[in-house]
Amino acid sequence: MPIIAPSLLAANFLRLEDECRMLNESKADWFHLDVMDGRFVPNISFGLPVIEHIRKATTKTLDVHLMIEEPGKFAEDFKKAGADILTVHIEACPNLHRNIQQIKSLGMKAGVAINPHTTVQQLGDILHEIDLVCLMSVNPGYGGQKFISHTVGKVRALKHMIKDRGLKTLIEIDGGVTLENAPAILHTGADILVAGNTVFKSSDPKGMIAKLKAL
Ligand code: DX5
Ligand code: ZN
Repeated sequence: MPIIAPSLLAANFLRLEDECRMLNESKADWFHLDVMDGRFVPNISFGLPVIEHIRKATTKTLDVHLMIEEPGKFAEDFKKAGADILTVHIEACPNLHRNIQQIKSLGMKAGVAINPHTTVQQLGDILHEIDLVCLMSVNPGYGGQKFISHTVGKVRALKHMIKDRGLKTLIEIDGGVTLENAPAILHTGADILVAGNTVFKSSDPKGMIAKLKAL
């Protein structure tokens, strides 16, 4: 069964408490929280105070996806805000190994996200250090974009790398995930589905989460 991580970027921010309750009552495993700085990506979303409040509203895993430059400056703050998993972008981290060590030393799981143009081979010398790879299946910055189908091949290649090395690294797919494309994504070896619009814009979000979980 896949891990389901609804992205609250597509939630109703005026009713965040209700949205958190809905996720708590649902089969969702993780809360996926997208932090954007208007520099690494051309959009600004939400930050630490919002995450602090979400932390109080759930005991589920907070999967924080940082789409920001210089994430090392804020890793400790995100730990304090309640992040369980902290994912940084390879494209934003010239000293990625240091970022990963910092995240782990703070007691969080460490993830690395890669943009659609970045090859999985570029993870070769860091894979054994990380808990999760987030394969972006859209260009980061916005919810509701179309899934880039080329990502499916990247899942396959990454799964091979992980298996060959006997690692337990999880593969997360982020962007444009739907009930239609999810089966193929999972078939090639993904472990975690992030879904924003597919969940929150559904007429029955809990039912949609249950359907994704049952795939
Ligand atoms: C994109 C974010 C995604 C996004 C997914 O920059 O990282 O997590 O919220 O939203 P959907 O599922 O609507 O594409
Ligand atoms: Zn994300």
